[in-house]
Amino acid sequence: MKRFGINKPTATLLSLLTLGFFTLLGGCSQNQPPTATVESESQNTETVSNQESATLKNLQAAYNGESNAHARYLAFSKKAEEEGYLQVATLFQAAADAEAIHAANHAAIIRKMGAKPEATIATPEVKSTLENLEEGISGESYERDTMYPEFIEQARKDGNQDAVVTFTYAVEAETEHAKYYAQAKDNLDDWRENTMTFYVCPECGYTTNDPNLAVCPECGTANNLFLSVS
Ligand code: FE2
Ligand code: FE2
Ligand code: FE2
Repeated sequence: MKRFGINKPTATLLSLLTLGFFTLLGGCSQNQPPTATVESESQNTETVSNQESATLKNLQAAYNGESNAHARYLAFSKKAEEEGYLQVATLFQAAADAEAIHAANHAAIIRKMGAKPEATIATPEVKSTLENLEEGISGESYERDTMYPEFIEQARKDGNQDAVVTFTYAVEAETEHAKYYAQAKDNLDDWRENTMTFYVCPECGYTTNDPNLAVCPECGTANNLFLSVS
């Protein structure tokens, strides 16, 4: 399986991607000199309320979920390769990359709110590729239909636009993952030969097999920046 765009091992993708999310945070620069700040009483109050907010809890839950999905899909990709479903292996790898991007996006907002991202990575339970696809469909459908819509609604109530953006980016990608997993499950024998390339937006994790998208339909990132997984 070949991956282009980022040549580092996937295990390091999450930490690398964390460095690239200054856009989401409003264009901060790593090269800015440190500045002394004096927190006012109102800023302290805001930090305390941030750390107790329902949206922060939701961000932590989503960060944990995405981090585990990343690990799970890497294991599913390896299993699919072992079973000879090479195209499914590529799809799981692309989805794993997307989940790492979602985790990094969520982590950036958690840190911006003054908290530390926390995830407990469980050892993935790997079954047959058919069953792994079914599990993938179930997980993505839950995130698409229940979890992220509820989190987005809560973030709106909390007035946290950063969280609305990162949750919305994720839900659009999960919709595509569920769609591709269903296609693979319904045509499993056609997904043995690895003929299709998947493209993953490095900003929002949008995942597609369409090479002709000029820009990401979700966040507008140019397609020459997409990760290519084949
Ligand atoms: Fe995700
Ligand atoms: Fe997903
Ligand atoms: Fe995007």
